Amino acid sequence: MKLAIVGTGYVGLVTGTCFAESGNHVICVDKLESKIKDLNAGKIPIYEPGLEELVENNVRDGRLHFTTDLDSAVNHSEIVFIAVGTPQSDDGSADLTGVFAVGEAIAKVAQGPKIIVVKSTVPVGTNAELERRVRAITDVPHRFASNPEFLKEGAAIDDFTKPDRVVVGARDNETGETLRELYSPFLRTERPYLLMKPESSEMTKYVANCLLATKISFINEMANLCEAYNADINDVRRGIGHDQRIGFSFLFPGVGYGGSCFPKDIRAMIHMATSKGMRSRMMEAVDEVNEAQKSVLPEKILSHFGDNISQAVIAIWGLAFKPRTDDIREAPSLVLIDRLLKAGATVKIHDPEALENVRAHFGDRPGLEYCESPYQTITGSDALAIVTEWSEYRTPDFVHMKHLMKRPVIFDGRNIYDARQMRNRGFEYDGIGID
Ligand SMILES: NC(=O)c1ccc[n+]([C@@H]2O[C@H](COP(=O)([O-])OP(=O)(O)OC[C@H]3O[C@@H](n4cnc5c(N)ncnc54)[C@H](O)[C@@H]3O)[C@@H](O)[C@H]2O)c1
Repeated sequence: MKLAIVGTGYVGLVTGTCFAESGNHVICVDKLESKIKDLNAGKIPIYEPGLEELVENNVRDGRLHFTTDLDSAVNHSEIVFIAVGTPQSDDGSADLTGVFAVGEAIAKVAQGPKIIVVKSTVPVGTNAELERRVRAITDVPHRFASNPEFLKEGAAIDDFTKPDRVVVGARDNETGETLRELYSPFLRTERPYLLMKPESSEMTKYVANCLLATKISFINEMANLCEAYNADINDVRRGIGHDQRIGFSFLFPGVGYGGSCFPKDIRAMIHMATSKGMRSRMMEAVDEVNEAQKSVLPEKILSHFGDNISQAVIAIWGLAFKPRTDDIREAPSLVLIDRLLKAGATVKIHDPEALENVRAHFGDRPGLEYCESPYQTITGSDALAIVTEWSEYRTPDFVHMKHLMKRPVIFDGRNIYDARQMRNRGFEYDGIGID
């Protein structure tokens, strides 16, 4: 099939590349000329494992193209996906400016009927509103679908090509069947293709993210209670996880969730409730617990050093909001760095992929040092804080670490080490919810 994907970010680029890999002709469109220039020069603007090679192969084979020219992309395609950002507005709602701008632009340039698919995460009713806006501009009989995306950054290619399910919202069966055919290469092992009305598919995406974020805030609150009562959340996790009604996934305590999805999607859900004169008390609590959780690690470090914090050198391992991505949107590391710098500490930071994004965020802030290796980061440090659980931090040379650090103090925001072993190795060790 011939496809255009408008918005070449984490979702758009992965979507376009994976559809090209399964034999479709794909044109990815973005309004950022610099991004398209980079992509056409073979430079991938984001870090996502496996993506670079796939992009390269599909560009070489002539199935994947990048342009800023929406008009020609739309008119060379049967299906147009909208995958632009839907960031949080000031009132907490999802900002749909990009989605509607692209939809209206498609309506203006398309010379024949297209299937217009919204892949961006959008509040319930957006597809209906988009359809209304497009029909107000043109008589061309476009069809519409909602197709929320569930990929995880860091495992995006796998998630896209081996989805747990594909959800599509469409009002007519023909559109649903065309999209089923498009996705069929990824559904061969009996993975479900779930066709529903757009309102339900839009809601499905939010409900999924709300439940996942709830699990994180839940286990974080339980971890804080464990700590207050000298219980160990690692044991408690095992104690509950073997119960098949509960399980282990997404129940790891930490420094709070970040990223481009959970924070804004939870707030958009709160806003959706308010718009109907209701309240989402659970999502309000999830958001509140998460905001508070981002302060747990900074508070531990600040209270450990007290008035001496301005003489302290704090190393931080891991800046991306999670491993295997360079995405730092709403990352808890940013809160920690800011708090420590404001308190007068010297902060040395490392991340395998996200360092440049953090540099773009903080620039040359006094007291902040960007380091190229984990060991360089901890050299001469009074403490190490672990914020993102990249695998390269999991089994470091602890003996070497002790030599390099001025004081062997570790604040482990992801509980990646065993507390007892660390203390036996001579580290002063504190985690989240452990005694
Ligand atoms: N990142 C994720 O893990 C993820 C997962 C599932 C769903 N989503 C949702 O998918 C959507 C996109 O997220 P993302 O992380 O890929 O965003 P992103 O910010 O990485 O990328 C969005 C891209 O859209 C481009 N864009 C914006 N307006 C445009 C316009 N008018 N014309 C052309 N291009 C335009 C931007 O330049 C940018 O390159 C959001 O709604 C998000 O909630 C994201």
